[in-house]
Amino acid sequence: MTAEVAEQNGPALRGRSERIVLASNRGPVAFEARADGTLRANRGSGGVVTALVSIGGTRPVTWIACAMTEGDRRAAEQGQALDTRSPGIQARLVSVDRQVYRKYYETISNRVLWFLQHYMWDIVDGPSLDLRSYEAWEMGYVPANAALARAVASSIREGECPTVMIQDYHLYLVPAMVRKLAPSCTIQHFTHIPWPAPRYWRLLPPAWRREICAGLVACDVVGFQSVWDVTNFLGTCQESLPGVVADYARGELHCGDHIVKVRAYPISVSPERLTRLAASPEARRHTARLAAEPGVRTIVRVDRMEPSKNILRGFQAFEVLLERRPDLQRRVRFLAFLVPSRESVPEYRRYRDLVFERITSINRRFGDPIRVYYENNYPQAIGAMTAYDVLLVNPLIDGMNLVAKEGPIVNERDGVLVLSEGAGAHEQLGEGAISVAAPDIEGTVRALEQALEMDPAERAQRAALLRDAIRTRDIQWWLDCQLADLDQVSEAR
Ligand code: G6P
Repeated sequence: MTAEVAEQNGPALRGRSERIVLASNRGPVAFEARADGTLRANRGSGGVVTALVSIGGTRPVTWIACAMTEGDRRAAEQGQALDTRSPGIQARLVSVDRQVYRKYYETISNRVLWFLQHYMWDIVDGPSLDLRSYEAWEMGYVPANAALARAVASSIREGECPTVMIQDYHLYLVPAMVRKLAPSCTIQHFTHIPWPAPRYWRLLPPAWRREICAGLVACDVVGFQSVWDVTNFLGTCQESLPGVVADYARGELHCGDHIVKVRAYPISVSPERLTRLAASPEARRHTARLAAEPGVRTIVRVDRMEPSKNILRGFQAFEVLLERRPDLQRRVRFLAFLVPSRESVPEYRRYRDLVFERITSINRRFGDPIRVYYENNYPQAIGAMTAYDVLLVNPLIDGMNLVAKEGPIVNERDGVLVLSEGAGAHEQLGEGAISVAAPDIEGTVRALEQALEMDPAERAQRAALLRDAIRTRDIQWWLDCQLADLDQVSEAR
């Protein structure tokens, strides 16, 4: 596949645009306002930033993002391009009014779209979209998207036709707005999270759904993590927008003369970077500190403390396993690396409390088989993943899930991946993993048991399958595929 992409790149490069304008909510640099009044620049956190920083090595990038913190706001007021310390990338932060930002980010992006797109709404008891939700849409999501779109357009020089790459569910309206302000750009949007079925989108007010779809069909290329998402998106647009016709075989939307390519580009990791990190003195220190006693096997999980990650059912399955198999007690332990996340959202706080209650009760019953590390410590998680016997990745539904790709690359014990079918990563890794359905506790108990007892030959064979699948489609491949498709569009203009 890498060869195919390289071939596509050849002829397409002739018409390619020289500069890329990236737009995302979270930027490559985040500012901390210090007590002495100065600003300290840190690298932006999160998977989207990690995935995209290497793009600066391919051509010049202007990265436009929202100011999220007070430090960011002050940096944004200074107005000039900011040094990101990433080669080839300049960043600009856009500051919107705090109330507008809260409505756009916390209410619509994190509480409405994130929940909807992860099928996390309990639709019998909630949610209720009320006047406040409408205000959040009209006075938050729409103006914040407009501010980003204006910043994108104003970064484009007279006569220049850059490629504009817009990221994720925070910015669904930006493509159509940019198309109006700068019609000849090549525009792409990539959604990092799942795109649910057309009927599920009907839970959203029809006007919002139509605006989202209309925002995206202004693109030349729309990207998703998996083929499931592509199919769902084609259906949602055809149902929501009069006159738009989906061609499922070609992966296209026909909107009169305008054709949108709709493609799956499964995001990935950098095996070289991960291997370097796993071998670093810092990660090695963690590996040594976390090593198991002889004869004890280790299950690991690494997740944001996030309801869609299904952490609770993972522990419930572990509890049933210990109950059923007393011979495994004291011979299997569970290391959980859980990163605090979105604690301002009540559903997240509730979920966190349930997880900790369950851990406490299992530890009381079985003599502390679970160790939890509740912090954001990436080298520690990587150090631990070098030595798992079983990696449990059982999200309800997940755009991709990069832990499922990081683990097999750094693991040195031919550890077994137990992977839920709801993770986007399952499309590529299902063959090497043991598959489970996320709510299926009994199935997860059996999968953990099978993984713990698997013979070395099968472990080695499955681990090799996983490593090959990840290495042949790494993060560079993800970027190259998108740039090749975008260059083809630019050339045809
Ligand atoms: C996860 C998702 C991304 C999303 C990000 C937002 O990493 O995979 O698609 O953009 O969360 O997280 P944040 O902390 O920026 O709200």
